[in-house]
Formats: sequence, C-alpha cells, structure tokens
Amino acid sequence: MNPSIPPSAAEYGGDEVSAIVLDPGYSTTRAGFAGEDTPKSLVPTYYGKYSGESEKFLFGDDIFVTPRPGLSIHNPVGRDGIVEDWDMAQRLWEYSFKSRLTGQKPGNPMLNGLNDVPEGELPADMEGVETEEKPLADSPLLMTECGWNPAKAREKTVEIAMENWGTPAYYLAKSGVLVAFASGKASALVIDIGASNISITPVHDGMVLKRGVQHSPLGGDYISSQIRASFKSNSPQPITITPHYLISSKTAVEPGQRPQATYKTFDPEKAPDASYRRLLEERTLTEFKESVVQVWPGPGRLSSLGPNGVPNEEVAKSSGRAFEFPDGYNQTFGVDRYRVIESLFDSKAHIADPDSEFQAPTPAQTIPEMIKASLSAVDVDIRPHLLQNVVVTGASSLIFGFNDRLNQELMQMFPSPRVRISAPGNTAERRFGSWIGGSILASLGTFHQMWISKKEYDEHGPNIVEKRCK
Ligand SMILES: Nc1ncnc2c1ncn2[C@@H]1O[C@H](COP(=O)(O)OP(=O)(O)OP(=O)(O)O)[C@@H](O)[C@H]1O
Ligand SMILES: [Mg+2]
Repeated sequence: MNPSIPPSAAEYGGDEVSAIVLDPGYSTTRAGFAGEDTPKSLVPTYYGKYSGESEKFLFGDDIFVTPRPGLSIHNPVGRDGIVEDWDMAQRLWEYSFKSRLTGQKPGNPMLNGLNDVPEGELPADMEGVETEEKPLADSPLLMTECGWNPAKAREKTVEIAMENWGTPAYYLAKSGVLVAFASGKASALVIDIGASNISITPVHDGMVLKRGVQHSPLGGDYISSQIRASFKSNSPQPITITPHYLISSKTAVEPGQRPQATYKTFDPEKAPDASYRRLLEERTLTEFKESVVQVWPGPGRLSSLGPNGVPNEEVAKSSGRAFEFPDGYNQTFGVDRYRVIESLFDSKAHIADPDSEFQAPTPAQTIPEMIKASLSAVDVDIRPHLLQNVVVTGASSLIFGFNDRLNQELMQMFPSPRVRISAPGNTAERRFGSWIGGSILASLGTFHQMWISKKEYDEHGPNIVEKRCK
C-alpha cells in the first residue's frame, strides 16, 4: 500500500477524503482510513453502564480503569457474532471512529466562529434547521461482516450508515474475502480464529462460496473457558484469578505456594458488578494464552501415542512454561497448557466444567471437521486450489504451535505436497487481516463503482445491500 497515492474515495464526489473502514469484531472494533496499513482506532466491543444521576455509558479503554459502584459490562454483539442490541452497537461503532478519526463535528456553522455573526443576530430562518452535522457526512464507509450475517442485520447496517451517520457512500464486505485480499489472493480457504467464533470461509475469485461457510463457537472466549476449567482442578492447588484492582499489595512467593497478597474489599453498595471482574480476568487469560498455552504440534493428537510408543502427553509434560498471576501466585504449567486448547482439534479433549457457559463441542465443530465439511460443499475442481491457499487469521490463531498442528491435520486429511498455509508472521497483519483487506479494497481505483451511493439508497432502500454486496 502506498499512502501517498490518494484513494479512489477521493473521486467520490470530488472530495479529498479517505473512506473509513469499520471492522467490528466480538472483542474489538477496528476503524481507520482506507489506504493505511493498520487501523488507527482500536476499541473494545464491550461497554460499561452505571447509574449516576441518570444512566451513564462508558466506551473505549475507560471501561477497564475505574471499578465504579454498580459498573456493569455488556456487549452489543451476540455469541454467534450477530448484533443483538442495535442501539448500543451503533453508539459503540460511532465512538470507534469519532474518538480517533473524524473528531467531533462542528455544530451550527453560524456559531462555530468561522462566520462573523454577532450573537443574538442569527437569521430567523436558521431555526429548526438540523444543526448537528452527521458524523460521516464527508466519508464513504466500508464495513465488514461475518459470512453468516442475516439479511435483516445487513440492511440495518446500511440504514444506520446512511440515515444516522450521513455517509455519502457505503459498502458491506465479507471479512473472509477481505482476509484473502490482505494476503494478495482472490481465492483462498480462510481460517479465522477470533474471540466468539472460529470460521472457515472458501473464497473463489473474490466471492464467498456460501455453501462452504462453516463456523462454530470455539473461539478465544471458549479457550478462556477451558483455561478456567483447568485452573479449578490445577495441582498443586486450584487457581483463582484475582485482578489487579482487588489487590493492594503482594509479596513474591515460591512457585506453587499460596499467594501472599492483601486484597481490597468493596462495600457491597460500592462494588462493581461481577461482569466487571470477569472482563479484567479475561485480560489475564489473554496474557496466559499469549505466553503459556501451546497447541500440541502433532503428529497425532495429544492423547495419541507418539512414533516411539511414548504417549504424547508424556512428551508434553516435559516442556513447561511459567506464569505469574496478579496476586503473585506462580507456577510452571506442563501438559495442561496443551490440554486447554486440544479440543479445537479433538472434541474428546474438552475439559468439562458445570459452571461454564459453553457446551462440550461436537466433533463437527472442530477445526479439521469444519475444513472437511467446507471443502466437500464446494466444487471438486476448486478444492485443490483452495488447499494451496489456506490463509490463517484472527488473534487466537497466534497461539504457539497453531500453524504446525493445522499443517499436520491438513496433511493427514489431504495428503499432497501442494497443501500450503499462509499465515502472516507479523502479528498486526494476523490480528487485523479483515480490516487491512478492507483498507486495500476501498482504496482500489476500480472499486469506486461498487459503492452504494446515497442516491441509490434513497431510490431502492436498504435492500440494495443484498443486490450490491454479495
Ligand atoms: N497472542 C495471542 N495469543 C492467543 N490468543 C490471543 C492473543 N491475542 C489475543 N488473543 C485472543 O484472541 C481473541 C480476540 O481475537 P480477534 O481480535 O481476532 O477477535 P474478534 O475479531 O474481536 O472476534 P470475532 O472474530 O469472534 O468477532 C481474544 O479471545 C483474545 O483473548
Ligand atoms: Mg474477527
């Protein structure tokens, strides 16, 4: 990408403005200008709610900072990746571009200091005029969506963009296609390991092959729930995650020894809601995934015997990694750091936990089975081509050993020297694949004919998104 070449959006209406690319995920919402390498704005898709004199909302990183009395944490997106609360989704997305990209728009132009009108002398005909400029009045908007977004939700997004944000041009692109573009491919089998879901998307000539789209809820949040389950039966002692805001001081302890910390307590009336604690626990779990968890690389499953007749679990035991929790508890994790993720590949490896909101996965929900199902739903002739272009994306795919195992599984299912995985080594590219693809697409000269203009929207209504954005 060459940022010095003005994006095609500039052709749109002759304005010197870039399109905005908005990539809403379940855990983070990414927004930025088309033509740039990474999204400027990265905000949690969670928001906070508390009551002061009236109901108040918190957006952005502020949700992590202060454990206000009664503060509760919510997500406008459902576990299946589809928006549930449109009002809050709209406010949150708006925050993502207003806070870092578009800024606050001036209100009444007669009052913004640029027009020399003495106070009290406003022309009478300004009254009743809509004074607040809409936030995207100058910016075409490209939004991303998952491959299973229902028609109603798709229409709702174009409606919000056109009517509430005032965007002059809009496009809705499937994130699988964008991830393929970001890897320079028009055809690919895209494997996305996100927070709420894992998905397999076959893309051919820039189009999603809908019948082949597979998804299951074994994303990063499920992995976190498996880690929690494993902590409960941890040896030498069960592990409780206590976030920093509940700790006033701690002392170093030997591995496996009880934590020596003084904890903060809250008056029940002044305590934040349990959802706040959970959000902060999730941060520690993400660190744990980044530095401790590892996928058994194969060959074979974690529960199988290795080539020398030694159980793979025995081999896994011998390679430990240490982790320290916020309260100072620390230990080295051996085979458990492999067990917590094994069920993405082998449903039998699921660690049961009666308190978990996740059910045990079925075999069909594991990555190897979903890949099989996806490929068998597409034309035989296309399959080899897709297998040569397997693209891995999503932040949860950054877990150590993921690509090695994926490669082993693919080799076993489709033995051919031509199976090839491409996974960007650069973590930003892996985390933002879908946004980056959107940034490329929206700045292609040839793309400007794809935009849905305001005029077309007014003429055809929200259903135009079904016709234009396939
Ligand atoms: N380095 C890492 N290793 C493993 N997991 C990670 C890493 N960094 C983040 N995660 C996990 O990845 C998940 C977020 O992934 P991602 O940003 O791709 O999701 P999303 O796009 O917001 O969600 P979805 O795709 O489900 O809508 C979280 O569960 C987080 O804990
Ligand atoms: Mg995602």
